[in-house]
Amino acid sequence: MTTPQPETAPRTTHDAEADARNRDILIYVDGDLVHRDEAKVSVYDSGFMLGDGMWEGMRLYDGEWAFFDAHMDRLFNSCKAVALEIGKTPEEIRAILDRTAAANGMTGDAHCRLMITRGRKAKPFQHPGLSKWGPTIVAIVEHSVPSERVQGTGIRLASVPQVRGLPHSQDPKFNSHSKLNCVIACLQAEQAGADEALMLDPHGFVNTTNACNFFIVRRGEVWTSTGDYCMNGVTRANVITLCREAGIPVFEKNFSLYEAYGADEAFLTGTFGAQTPVAEIDGRVIGAGGGAGPVTRRLRALYKAMVAQNVAEQKARRG
Ligand SMILES: Cc1ncc(COP(=O)(O)O)c(C=O)c1O
Repeated sequence: MTTPQPETAPRTTHDAEADARNRDILIYVDGDLVHRDEAKVSVYDSGFMLGDGMWEGMRLYDGEWAFFDAHMDRLFNSCKAVALEIGKTPEEIRAILDRTAAANGMTGDAHCRLMITRGRKAKPFQHPGLSKWGPTIVAIVEHSVPSERVQGTGIRLASVPQVRGLPHSQDPKFNSHSKLNCVIACLQAEQAGADEALMLDPHGFVNTTNACNFFIVRRGEVWTSTGDYCMNGVTRANVITLCREAGIPVFEKNFSLYEAYGADEAFLTGTFGAQTPVAEIDGRVIGAGGGAGPVTRRLRALYKAMVAQNVAEQKARRG
């Protein structure tokens, strides 16, 4: 059913093998399951108009949404912080995702983008009080197998002028619909001839990429940013846990491009691609270049086992 992408296709951390079945998926929109061509929200929707909404990306393995509790914890925390009433429990959200996956005949190799916005507005203006009919809840679940090509070639990053924000402007921990800061960073990286952006924090330390969290491996140690200014990635937290459990020294610390350029390995983390190798930063080849180095490969194997364990635990809990 899947066909490999042509060699000329652009590389991104979210490249998936082409799958014709996605042309006819059913999408959950506010209680209904509708063909993707008919899946629509109002032009008055707070998400469309202002980027006023939160989302989660989750993956389905063997009938379970991996690390579901962690995703719900982040989503409910984010919505509470912006006074967005979800109006559903995490279990009701799970039922929506399960229903959508079942309607599409999916039990694995599927990726969900769950979106919750403040809903439809009475007037085309900003005030949240104008969002009279909400929230709007949409779940897109696609057949999805991350591209093997990216695993083999790695991602080319460019450091960009666009920085991560301070928490008192728009806290970068929000997985908000508005990703303009990240989109601008990605555009800058493309203009520099790279695949994606490596973003710095307001002090100039290496922070994260526009769509994933960022790690380096130096002299047997795994480093990532302090966690300030970046998305509190579920995969990031899992990789840190795995390092600790496996006795791999891991540090959440400030470091600069100087140390990133000289890294033995670098990789990105995210729900979609798990751990994606970095081939280059600003034209400097990282490690052996291209595919994953030994520590990245080890963490990838440990992560795969962690997903399997989480899925088994969820199955056992749910009977
Ligand atoms: C900016 C950014 N960083 C990191 C991540 C990875 O987070 P997670 O590991 O929870 O998928 C995402 C994914 O939503 C993101 O948008």
